[in-house]
Amino acid sequence: MQDLPDGVVVRPGKGQLDRVSVDTAACTGEVYLHGAHVTAFQPEEQLPLLWVSSKSAFAPGQAIRGGIPICFPWFGPMRTDLDFHQHEKPPQHGVARTSPWRLTDVRRSADAVTLSLSPASHDPFSKWWPGKFAATLAVRFAKTLTVALRIENRGTTPMRCEAALHTYFFVGDVNQVEVHGLEGVEYVDRVRDLQRFKQDNTPIRFDGEFDRTYVNTSSPVTVIDPVYKRKIVNQKVGSNTTVVWNPGRVKAEPVIGLAPDEYKQFVCVETAAATDNFLTINPGETHTLGFEASSETL
Ligand code: BG6
Repeated sequence: MQDLPDGVVVRPGKGQLDRVSVDTAACTGEVYLHGAHVTAFQPEEQLPLLWVSSKSAFAPGQAIRGGIPICFPWFGPMRTDLDFHQHEKPPQHGVARTSPWRLTDVRRSADAVTLSLSPASHDPFSKWWPGKFAATLAVRFAKTLTVALRIENRGTTPMRCEAALHTYFFVGDVNQVEVHGLEGVEYVDRVRDLQRFKQDNTPIRFDGEFDRTYVNTSSPVTVIDPVYKRKIVNQKVGSNTTVVWNPGRVKAEPVIGLAPDEYKQFVCVETAAATDNFLTINPGETHTLGFEASSETL
């Protein structure tokens, strides 16, 4: 690795896992090499944009609860209609988030820092999936947060996979926020036996468990948070699926492992290529899935 620019350090973080920390006049941020997991982003003079559970594991082989887990090469339970090898119980949301990644490049331009990471080994992936691939996660910390997962097919046959950037946005109280931008969009409801419905023409509000995979949508999504008096905007590229998730009070502690009432502190708005919108990448081609998230005071 090259010398790191000012404002960027790599040191052991929680659980002694390697963590890249960024501190500039524009923002602070951090990424763990474990899972290439972004765990913090805070623009100058604003509240943090991302949320991480106080109960999260920080350990090899376990997913961090919060921040931006990368779901790849599949989303949710492994699909049986793509090309995966199902020889034992597959881990939920793929293996990228529990695999080691390495830092391959760091660039600073004025107050923007861009980190690039790639999987340290393909073994955890090839155990489940025949894809011959290269993947790079680029994370740009500036006044806004930009994250892009670039996937290249290095094989000789079309490569099928799913991917998601499973962002946990920090909010004052999930039961008071509104999510705009998915009005009229079809979704698969994981709370109601994967049945399909169409979102009505009102913003999303939360009152209990909410787990919807919105398909065929590239629209930006806005989270309005009246408690923290701010608006978060998530704009996507290369993504036709948006997942909106919060476990609600009942499942939060026993199933998801959160501290009491922590479920109120986040809403997941996930930039995805999943379900109907899984990716087929031809040999030699690439697909980039990404988003830019920004916040402003209301
Ligand atoms: C969401 C899924 O993306 O992730 C939910 O839609 C799932 O069904 C949630 O419960 C959390 O998944 P995990 O594996 O991090 O507990």
